[in-house]
Amino acid sequence: MTIKDTPAKKSLRQNHILDLDEFSKSDIEVIFDNTDSMMEVLNRGIRKVPALRGKTVITLFFEASTRTRVSFEQAGKILSADVINVSSDGSSNKKGESLYNTALTLQAMKADAIVIRHQHSGAGYFLAQQMQSTSIINAGDGMHAHPTQSLLDLYTIKKHLGNIQSKKVVIVGDLLYSRVARSNLWGLTTMGADIVLCGPNTLLPQDFLDQRIDDVSHPFKNITIENDLNKALNGADVVMALRLQSERQKAGHLPSLREYSRKFGISSERLKLARSEAIVMHPGPMNEGVEIEPDVAHGPQSVIESQVTTGVAIRMAILYDLITGTNSEKEL
Ligand code: CP
Repeated sequence: MTIKDTPAKKSLRQNHILDLDEFSKSDIEVIFDNTDSMMEVLNRGIRKVPALRGKTVITLFFEASTRTRVSFEQAGKILSADVINVSSDGSSNKKGESLYNTALTLQAMKADAIVIRHQHSGAGYFLAQQMQSTSIINAGDGMHAHPTQSLLDLYTIKKHLGNIQSKKVVIVGDLLYSRVARSNLWGLTTMGADIVLCGPNTLLPQDFLDQRIDDVSHPFKNITIENDLNKALNGADVVMALRLQSERQKAGHLPSLREYSRKFGISSERLKLARSEAIVMHPGPMNEGVEIEPDVAHGPQSVIESQVTTGVAIRMAILYDLITGTNSEKEL
């Protein structure tokens, strides 16, 4: 069976993937359906299909990455796209070239999609407004958004727990600087999860929380804030630990790492407060011994490696959809 026999069934009809605030529930379900097909390809002995033969995907990373960059490269290669990796260190960015001119240059080389990670929030949005024939995929922009991580998180929850609706999802840690958390707030809200945010007050996004209190129609109005991790974990279906984003933090958020770990680290003892079938998630990279203990990270309730595998299939589905799914209709 080739992928042409089991193609992505439906299309998002989007030109770019920038954040999940642009996704309806049915859009996310389209991605889930298509990811099922891609997972079948990924689980074959020979992981190669001609779906994107003759197409070019460029990964343009201005920040470090293991999971996202490699999984996009693997996804493109499994689908037979030509994948070219560009990092800021090895590019003409080092000679002062602007992001805009770099992207125009890659578009002129007929890139079908540019996967961009950038330290500045909004970088992907800026490029998407400028591109005529190249799709932009946001692989993480500053502290703003990481939509493909959120999609893989949502898919992982659905696969392990059956559905997302009404599941109690506790997100613990650096919520202020986490782009994963911000995209997940959109995705989990859209899918009807019961979200609890837990962390020190200094690492909660107060601007967003204040807006939520003032605006009764705010999409995040039902999200619960709980500073006490033991209370937050009570009855949880999903425990999602976040890394402290020290590269983005300013000084003064925490008295000490030891204190933080004592209050907000996920230990096996604490995990007993969650439901016995609860799953433990982490977007990675992990700082074991800080936000999560090693025996939890690698324990029976951890689905962290499953998240990584899912990341490849989700990115296959996204590349396939953006590059071929809407070709006949989109004005690229
Ligand atoms: N989750 C995630 O974005 O990991 P990387 O930084 O390794 O890509």
